[in-house]
Amino acid sequence: MNYKANESRYDNGMKYERCGRSGVLLPKVSLGFWHNFGGVDPYERSREITRYAFDHGITHFDLANNYGPPYGSAEETLGRLMQDDFAPYRDELFISTKAGYDMWPGPYGNWGSRKYLMASLDQSLRRMHLDYVDLFYSHRFDPETPIEETLQAMVDIVRQGKALYLGISRWPADALAKAIDYLAERDTPLLIFQDKLNMLNRTPETNGTLELCKSRGVGFISFSPLAQGLLTDRYLQGIPTDSRMAKEKFLRKDMLTEELLNQLQEWNEEAKKCGQTLAEKALRWILNHEGVTSVLVGASSVAQLEKNLKALS
Ligand SMILES: NC(=O)c1ccc[n+]([C@@H]2O[C@H](COP(=O)([O-])OP(=O)(O)OC[C@H]3O[C@@H](n4cnc5c(N)ncnc54)[C@H](OP(=O)(O)O)[C@@H]3O)[C@@H](O)[C@H]2O)c1
Repeated sequence: MNYKANESRYDNGMKYERCGRSGVLLPKVSLGFWHNFGGVDPYERSREITRYAFDHGITHFDLANNYGPPYGSAEETLGRLMQDDFAPYRDELFISTKAGYDMWPGPYGNWGSRKYLMASLDQSLRRMHLDYVDLFYSHRFDPETPIEETLQAMVDIVRQGKALYLGISRWPADALAKAIDYLAERDTPLLIFQDKLNMLNRTPETNGTLELCKSRGVGFISFSPLAQGLLTDRYLQGIPTDSRMAKEKFLRKDMLTEELLNQLQEWNEEAKKCGQTLAEKALRWILNHEGVTSVLVGASSVAQLEKNLKALS
């Protein structure tokens, strides 16, 4: 059935925040395609989640070349979604992708060379059936490649019209500061820094990157805001068989120590007293930080996303 977006999508609770010192407004809750949108996942479920997101004002979808599994398949899913549902809404969407981790074999499919970044983005655009992405990220810092090579490749990507804005993810603070200067001097200012900030990981607060972004007019988006599901009710009564921890290598069972479980239970009780879920409390905690533009949630069902959007009310 043809998809027609909900006409009240910009009137049903989503809030938008200016991304640093830029013209871009991002939804306070954005949707990530790292899990649940790969070739191994049921397309109709990915489609239902994406439609629900857009119908509720989530205009920003975040991808990377290697999201799947298999690698590249989340971008293929997005490409299929564009063809099936979202092509008429392209200008209402803010789509990002990244390169930086291992993507194809050999010396040119990883890290931060000009060779890799340029080829990777061309592949991403083909998989997503897009002429350009709104935002292209360096996914991680490459200590071996000269920083100028990585950054100049990014500048040139914008000049070629393949990305409108630039982002950086997971770079250390000193390299991030250099990148902000380099890109500003070339009139392709850094739009956003993507890093992990949540109730269990406060590194961007403690290493100064959140403050740096704020002071330099760069937006900040928090990935894994629910610590991959730990900061929800998902694991409070054990490990469900359909959960990321049961199925994936990224969230290991040994991470759920007794001490952590006690902490989660305590936060869950606090949340309940305020009439909230733990997920809602965790998202509100991040969004209350000055300088945070958006939280980048993942979801394996519409029901999860629906619950997470309550953090905005
Ligand atoms: N830049 C980077 O290096 C980097 C790294 C990681 C992530 N990211 C980005 O950040 C996005 C989000 O990461 P993430 O998926 O780890 O985010 P997350 O929001 O911390 O975790 C999402 C997972 O938590 C569970 N969940 C979500 N809402 C729930 C709810 N209300 N109740 C119970 N469980 C709930 C689901 O797990 P189940 O599958 O168990 O249901 C869901 O898949 C990624 O898609 C990607 O775009 C970027």
